[in-house]
Amino acid sequence: MIRSVIRGAGSALPQRIVTNDELAAQLDTSDEWIVERTGIRQRHIAGEGETTSTLAIEAARAALDDAGIDASEIDLIVLATATPDNTFPATATKVQAALGCNGCPAFDVAAVCSGFLYAMSTADAMLVSGQATRALVIGAETFSRILDWEDRTTAVLFGDGAGAIVLEAQDGDGTRGILTSQLHADGAQHDLLYVDGGPSTTQTVGHLRMKGREVFRHAVGNLAQVLRDVVAKAGIEISDIDWVVPHQANIRILEGTAKKLGLPPEKVIVTVDRHANTSAASVPLAFAAARADGRIKQGDLVLFEAMGGGFTWGASLVRM
Ligand code: ACO
Repeated sequence: MIRSVIRGAGSALPQRIVTNDELAAQLDTSDEWIVERTGIRQRHIAGEGETTSTLAIEAARAALDDAGIDASEIDLIVLATATPDNTFPATATKVQAALGCNGCPAFDVAAVCSGFLYAMSTADAMLVSGQATRALVIGAETFSRILDWEDRTTAVLFGDGAGAIVLEAQDGDGTRGILTSQLHADGAQHDLLYVDGGPSTTQTVGHLRMKGREVFRHAVGNLAQVLRDVVAKAGIEISDIDWVVPHQANIRILEGTAKKLGLPPEKVIVTVDRHANTSAASVPLAFAAARADGRIKQGDLVLFEAMGGGFTWGASLVRM
């Protein structure tokens, strides 16, 4: 039975760290408010020369190194982003050119904060159906470039970064790899979280707009349901899960979802304090961090989950 197995992971963060106190010097906010409401203490912000593609390329190279795979062995690149370098071509093709694995399919996926889950599930389907053998799946963002820096209700929440994994199609007994995934979208919720610009509407890039309290309310309910569904589909119990790697939007969403499911908080990987919300990059950034520090090991059962603008949301269950 062919399954997509995670061979390696890598990440990249911009050099510059911006603390809550630095934001409080220019906005009517405070370290205390941000930490208490979100768990965020700092974020990395892209500087001159740093873009979504430069971060994605660095993360992809780190993932290839971790997997011990040469770029020439990659035959699929799927990149999740809501902040591409350009409207087109896809940022995935810039990564491809930098790595020198030209010729294979390379494309972007737009599902905002759930982008990495959508990208991983798409790559998995292509690997299992024999369209590719080794895929780079990347989440990369520079949300700092679409924030309204005068809006304290959104400017304090986001950061920049990239994370990547190498997925490989392996024929085995079916116990390792991506066991199951489930994706959802609800386009009726557009106005709760969106960007007020774009090529076909305003011909500007626009700024992120969000009704935070309502997003929060939907997030916990949607995530708890999709996690229950994915666990039931895989025929396992919540207690079998070794690690949860959630989208890092807000510590209260992470804790609220874990509590609803009866998951012990120590099984939840948390990086929101250091990275803030990096949208599609947050899941692979958290995963790479937990693998690098030795928490996530071969044989572990890992649950990935995310929810974001659209709304979109989803979950994947993976045996390492
Ligand atoms: N500093 C100080 N005060 C602030 C700030 C700030 N940065 N931002 C808002 N406030 C004020 C508000 O103006 C409001 O003041 P008022 O009572 O005088 O009107 C007060 O704080 C409370 O505002 P709320 O919006 O009710 O605060 P809440 O506890 O809901 O926290 C937050 C806001 C952090 C945005 C929360 O709703 C949240 O995290 N929502 C989820 C949104 C999210 O994470 N989206 C990311 C993308 S989607 C996803 O990833 C799931």
